[in-house]
Amino acid sequence: MQKTAPGLLSLAASIDFSAYAPLGLPPATAALLERVRSQLTSGQPEWKASTDAETRIPVERYFSPEVWQAEVQALFKPLPLIAAHSSELAPGQAMAHDAFGVPLLLSRDADGTLRCFLNVCRHRGMRMLERGCAQTRNSVVCPYRGWTYRLNGSLSHMLHAETFDACAQGARDLVAVLCAERHGLIWVVPDAKSTLDLDAYLGGLNAELPFYGIEKLQHFRTIEAEYPANWKLIIDAFLESYHIRVLHQKTIYPFFADSVTSAERFGPHIHSLVARRAALEWANRPGSAAPDTVEGLSQLATTSQVVFPNTVTIFHPDYLSLISVVPTGPETLRWTHRMLIPADKSTPDWAPHWEKTFQLIEQGVFQKEDIHCAIGIQHGLKTGANTHITVGRAEVALSWFHEQVRHATAPHLSTESQLKSS
Ligand code: FES
Ligand SMILES: [Fe+2]
Repeated sequence: MQKTAPGLLSLAASIDFSAYAPLGLPPATAALLERVRSQLTSGQPEWKASTDAETRIPVERYFSPEVWQAEVQALFKPLPLIAAHSSELAPGQAMAHDAFGVPLLLSRDADGTLRCFLNVCRHRGMRMLERGCAQTRNSVVCPYRGWTYRLNGSLSHMLHAETFDACAQGARDLVAVLCAERHGLIWVVPDAKSTLDLDAYLGGLNAELPFYGIEKLQHFRTIEAEYPANWKLIIDAFLESYHIRVLHQKTIYPFFADSVTSAERFGPHIHSLVARRAALEWANRPGSAAPDTVEGLSQLATTSQVVFPNTVTIFHPDYLSLISVVPTGPETLRWTHRMLIPADKSTPDWAPHWEKTFQLIEQGVFQKEDIHCAIGIQHGLKTGANTHITVGRAEVALSWFHEQVRHATAPHLSTESQLKSS
């Protein structure tokens, strides 16, 4: 049985993935691709045969201040959150990180050891590093009166140290925050009282992620923005392909089959493949083998994962979009989109190509289409037009996600609030 973080539902995968291992793809990905193939050869998307009831999500889940507070307490403080890609922080560098609403400082020693601290001076609490890309440095100096810390967080210098009382060794070091590095990603747990066991938290995703080679990619660009919508509306947008045919008709729909998706759960996380049009010919060619590289797979299907609670991976054919959303209020969110590219295509001559690609996906697809719809939904939530949002059988992964959020937040909600939002 898969171990699950406290407060999250444990959902063992229903398929015997080991049967697909010989294909060369990781087990769940292989099983999902076979499900894509069978939908394309039969012409019958899985949702056509589904007998599940439609799901109804109360609109209060998207604007209630109490629900928002419960989500912060249950999800955004105690759970491991993806803070950056490993390539953003070279040995001997440090950087500020503010996306989680807590001022953090990430550092990497010359020997490669990753650390995270509160970005707060131990003298009178001044912020240490300002926002920006990681910079190479030997130490971090408080801009107020120059207290100086090594990259391992230890205090190395106090101006006029004799004016302070003696204290225990380490008592004035930067305050450490739990962090870890796995699959090329830097994970942080913002709440000091929590623990961090990434293997248990990621469960079956641990067997899938190495295939995708995230640690071999290189960070190209990050964009951060604030939007007037509930954070879950962004996650919702990446949990179904039902909308691609209409919303993305002129942008990405020409590359995708209509609503052919397969998805599976790993504990609270969701792993899915969305069929691309090129897969139709492959699926119907007798004896066609499954690809055994991420490049081959991404020609046939786009892999996307919701790494619970707030990160979405989208493996485009030649790069990765890593999207994180954090609630800044009940009806506002902070969006962070990182573009990660192959290391062998990260030389300066490739920059114009990636810049253009990034603008097309970030502005042309995400901002003008997906985020535009999230904001459009938020405008109408309190009008009384709908008491619930309706989720159809082609959008079933949304109900999995909301089930996890509801389960995790229940202990933090009053009975009255639970009733209103269930
Ligand atoms: S607050 Fe940092 S040195 Fe005074
Ligand atoms: Fe979309």
